[in-house]
Amino acid sequence: MKALLIGSNGQLGSDIARVLIEKPGAEVIPLTRMELDVTSFDSISRVVKNNNPDVVINTAAYHQVDVCEDKPELAFATNTYAQKNLCAICKEIDARYVFFSTDYVFDGYANASYMEEDTPSPINIYGISKLAGEQIIQYMLEKYFIIRVSGLYGATPPSGKKYNFVDLMIDKAQKGDSIEVVNDQRLTPTSTLDIANKLYEILNKAKYGIYHLTNTGNCTWFEFAQEIFTITGLKHNLEPCKTGTFGEKAKRPSFSVLENKHLKDLGIEDLQHWKNALTNYIKLKYPQFVSEFHH
Ligand SMILES: NC(=O)c1ccc[n+]([C@@H]2O[C@H](COP(=O)([O-])OP(=O)(O)OC[C@H]3O[C@@H](n4cnc5c(N)ncnc54)[C@H](OP(=O)(O)O)[C@@H]3O)[C@@H](O)[C@H]2O)c1
Repeated sequence: MKALLIGSNGQLGSDIARVLIEKPGAEVIPLTRMELDVTSFDSISRVVKNNNPDVVINTAAYHQVDVCEDKPELAFATNTYAQKNLCAICKEIDARYVFFSTDYVFDGYANASYMEEDTPSPINIYGISKLAGEQIIQYMLEKYFIIRVSGLYGATPPSGKKYNFVDLMIDKAQKGDSIEVVNDQRLTPTSTLDIANKLYEILNKAKYGIYHLTNTGNCTWFEFAQEIFTITGLKHNLEPCKTGTFGEKAKRPSFSVLENKHLKDLGIEDLQHWKNALTNYIKLKYPQFVSEFHH
């Protein structure tokens, strides 16, 4: 497998690069935005054709959800129109295409986990732009994997940010800050390392289509923060709050839990529970806080 990886220095992209490089039979060509800008057709065409991969993995996105409300052109350039150009080149060189999408394609009014077959109905511009990207891919290609993920955290912080949510909570607690976290949005926080490992298994099965790929179980962002403090044992001033407290521009789904149905249909073992994934992440990054390490 010769994989061209777009957005290779992002949160998810860097874990995919780390994991794929170790896998037998996998060759990875990691590309930063400087090397391939998905909003430029010339850049896509030249770089993809020069490398002639058999799979193109695109982790690039414009995902500042609140900014998207005022500047939809940024969201659509990267999340939507770029898909048309990437699909055209993938088709030309007969490469498979992997696109990462989001739980925000759903409106959040469900009361059971969303399956891949459920009808998306996004409630913000970001979700609309990602869903439109999905639809272009389905329209243009047969050999595609659309992989919807949620609440990501990993060893590398999200692009342009110092911290992911876990690191931010730990930093705030260490500084003694008071912390308010929404308790009315339910999701599944997900480790990018776990996604990277499952992606390799999915690629090896070659069954195309949409996949939900999150850790299992679910929680609110507040409960997620509580668990971070339970695992680390850090003292904190954490309080629950309601969506809207921070004057966010974009609406968020109140329930965006995904079921990894298509993954299980392939006979691939489901991802671990989000609490186990979080414990593993904290053990690796902050061994000093995990009490069993002290004894
Ligand atoms: N983060 C989440 O919680 C979450 C939740 C649901 C879905 N997702 C989806 O998961 C995927 C990965 O997210 P992430 O958290 O890993 O994001 P990230 O850390 O922001 O990484 C995105 C990567 O894409 C690159 N990029 C951005 N615009 C580009 C462009 N025009 N051309 C080429 N590269 C570009 C970024 O480069 P620069 O560093 O130069 O900006 C960065 O390397 C995205 O598709 C996102 O929509 C994320």
